[in-house]
Amino acid sequence: MRISIHGAKGGVGKTTISITLALILAERGGKVVLLDRDNIGFASRISGIEDKGLVKSIVEKSESDPTLTVKVGKGRVTVIKMLGDGPRYEQYIQEILRDDSLKRAFNLKYSQILRSTEFDYFVVDNPSMLQFQDSIVKLDLDVFLSLYPNVEIKRVYVSDSSTLSIWQTVKYAKLAEEGFRIGSALGLVVNMVPPMMEEAKEREVREALEKIDIPVGVITPFYDPLFQYNGELTEFPILPQLRSVPNLLERKFRKDERIIIR
Ligand SMILES: Nc1ncnc2c1ncn2[C@@H]1O[C@H](COP(=O)(O)OP(=O)(O)O)[C@@H](O)[C@H]1O
Ligand SMILES: [Mg+2]
Repeated sequence: MRISIHGAKGGVGKTTISITLALILAERGGKVVLLDRDNIGFASRISGIEDKGLVKSIVEKSESDPTLTVKVGKGRVTVIKMLGDGPRYEQYIQEILRDDSLKRAFNLKYSQILRSTEFDYFVVDNPSMLQFQDSIVKLDLDVFLSLYPNVEIKRVYVSDSSTLSIWQTVKYAKLAEEGFRIGSALGLVVNMVPPMMEEAKEREVREALEKIDIPVGVITPFYDPLFQYNGELTEFPILPQLRSVPNLLERKFRKDERIIIR
C-alpha cells in the first residue's frame, strides 16, 4: 500500500506525520519505505542520509546512494531521498524530463532502488500544494506504477489548526482529488491543536470531512518534544493519536461514514 501525505502549505506537519506513520507501521513489523520528496529533506537528514538526493545526482551524472535503512521495532524503515536541494528541484526535474538519456538514467536508478527494497507500506512525504499533473509526480509514478501497477494508494491531508488553514486545506484537497486519477483520500489530520481547543476543532474537522467527502479525521495536539526536533529518526517523538491509523488503512468504510480520533 502507498500512503501519500499532502498539504496546502509548509510548516503544517506533513513531514512530521509522514515520519510518524512510517515509524508506527514499522514498529508493528512492517517493511516501510519513506519516500522523501520534501525539498528540504528533513526525513533524510535525521535518518542519516548525506547524499545530495536522487534527482540532483542524475542531473549531475554523479554516483549516488540516496537510501538508508533503519531497523525500527519488529520492522524497518528505508528512507529514499528524492530531492533535498531547496526550490531548485523543479529545474532539475525539467532537465530530466527534457533529456531522454537523463530520463533513462533516472528510471534505471529509481527502479533499481525500488526493486532492491521490498515493502509493505510506501509512505510519501510531499512538497506543499502537490497536484497530479506536477512533474515530480510523473517522474516517480512512471517507474513506480510500472513495477507495482496494482498497488493501493491512499492520501492523507494535513493542516495546522487555524480555521483559515483548515479551509485552505479543504479547498486544496477538493481540487487535488479531482485531478488524482488513481487512489483515494482516506483522511485529514488537523495538527498542532492547542490545549482546550479539541472540542471546537472537532466540529470544524467534521465539516471538513463532509466537504472533501473522506472518512477519517485525526486531531493531533501541539506536542513540545516534536517542536524543532533534531534528534535521530529512531527517537522521533510519536503522536499517540496516529497509532490507530494502521488499522484504518485496512478498513472499508460505508458511504458517508466518518470517524474522528483525538
Ligand atoms: N504536533 C506538533 N507539535 C509540535 N511541533 C510540531 C508538530 N507537528 C509539527 N511540528 C513542528 O513544526 C515544524 C514544521 O513541521 P513539518 O512536519 O516540517 O511541516 P511541513 O512538512 O508541512 O513543512 C517542525 O519544526 C515540526 O517539528
Ligand atoms: Mg515537509
